This record gives sequence, C-alpha cells and structure tokens, in this order.
Amino acid sequence: MHLFDHKKELTSFLLAERNKNRTIGLVPTMGALHEGHISLVKKALEENDRVVVSIFVNPTQFDKKDDLEKYPRNLDRDLALLGSVSEKIIVFVPSVDEIYGDDIKSQSYEFDGLDKVMEGKFRQGHFDGVGTIVELFLRNVSPDKAYFGEKDFQQLQIIRKMADFKKLKCKIIGCPIEREPHGLAMSSRNERLSKTTREKASFIYETLQTAKSKFGTESATKITDWAKEEFEKNPLFELEYFQIADEDTLTPMLKKQNDTKYRAFIAVYADGVRLIDNLRLN
Ligand code: PAF
Repeated sequence: MHLFDHKKELTSFLLAERNKNRTIGLVPTMGALHEGHISLVKKALEENDRVVVSIFVNPTQFDKKDDLEKYPRNLDRDLALLGSVSEKIIVFVPSVDEIYGDDIKSQSYEFDGLDKVMEGKFRQGHFDGVGTIVELFLRNVSPDKAYFGEKDFQQLQIIRKMADFKKLKCKIIGCPIEREPHGLAMSSRNERLSKTTREKASFIYETLQTAKSKFGTESATKITDWAKEEFEKNPLFELEYFQIADEDTLTPMLKKQNDTKYRAFIAVYADGVRLIDNLRLN
C-alpha cells in the first residue's frame, strides 16, 4: 500500500503508473471506513489495476460546525483496514491546508436544479462543497472510473452532472447500499448512535420497504402522509423529509409516469445524528 499526503507526489506516482498502461480507479471517502466503503474499494479493485482511496473530511460540505467537529475520524484503523484489503491501494490523506490553503471555500456550481431539493434544501452549500472536492480529486487523480455509494443517491446524480458539465473523462459508477444486519444503511455517522438506537434505526429501512409495497396502488401524497404519521408515532426519530422523486431529475413525483424510475428518499435525526437512506420503488 502506498500513502501520500501531497497532491504533487500523488500525481507524479500516478503518472508513472499510467505510463505502465495501468488503469486507475478512485474511491473518495471521508474516512471512518466501514463495509460500505470496502465494497466500493473491492469493486474498484476488480475493475482497475490500481485504486486510489482518498480520506479527507471536507470542511466546505458541512453546513454546521458542530457536525464537522463530531464527524468520526480514525485514520490508524482506516489504514489498517485498507492494508488488509490489497497492496494495490494508494491512499491519499491530504491536510485541509494542502487542499484549500488559507482560502477554505467552495466553488459555485450549476447542477441543473438537482441541488435544489432534499439534501440541497436542508444543507445550504453542501453540494457546492462536494462538487469542489470531488472535482479536485478527479482532476488530480484522473481516474478511469470513480466509485460512489447509492446511499448518497442525490450526491451521486450531482457528481454525474458535474463530471458531464465539466467534460471530465472519468466514468462515475454508482454502487448498491450496504446495510447493517438490522437494515440500517451503513454510514460513518452510525458510530455516533447508541447501541439501542442503532438497532431500532431499522425502522427507517422498514418504512422505505413498506412505502415500496404501497407504491403499486397508492399515490405519492398518500404514502408520504403515511410515512410522516409513522414517524410521529416514533419519538426516537425526528423526520426531516420523506420524498418520492424521479431518480434522474430528483423532482418530486406528482403523477406516476410509466417510463420513469422513482425512489423514496428519507432524512431522519436519531440521537442528534442525521441519517439518510433511499430505496428504488419500481
Ligand atoms: O460521500 C462522501 O463521503 C463525501 O461526500 C465525498 C464524496 C467523499 C466528498 O467529500
């Protein structure tokens, strides 16, 4: 395993790999790695000769200082885990200074409206922060393929849009959500939940599954009202939004169209931790 903390050394190492005709995959992460991340890394290893895993808690995508400070960090454990997966992994762990210098701010992006709903509505500036860091990684690593989990489905669609608008050659690959035994979508934030809440948070996935079973016969409004009522009955969780939307445009579903793929999206607070999840409905 190779470890870099400066862009310059990373790019010259990758240039040498390219000159040996090696393909490169990229898995951007914010660390506190779990099985969800490892599944992305394994897929990237299957499809590329070398895989760069970036570990960087990106300050510009956090709208709350407290959330940034509490974001779990465990670099030693992350490196040990990646080391146990494959020798072919190249880890990039830059400092905030290496990425932003003394100007810690995002660029401004046009995402064709994909950033105006759900996460974008509730987390001001979040997607400009994500766009800024992902574009920087894509430009420095120049991967053939970059891998993102579908848990952050809106983020995945936004990164696809950004790569398209910026004419970046890299293929953006979405990977299925990995779940804990009780059904909770895997996330670094889950570490901050109490053991009981973590188990009871299966309620989020169960709600999505029931929404899916209702989708054939009930309207989006009816399902959304039902989901809100379910959360009102469960004081352990505070629902921020439940939204059924077109998975390509992310616009809320009004009237069901036969040729459109729909997903239910959810954001919930539990133990003061913000959790998101989604499920394809048709
Ligand atoms: O999904 C994440 O962990 C982050 O948003 C990403 C893509 C690594 C950018 O910081």
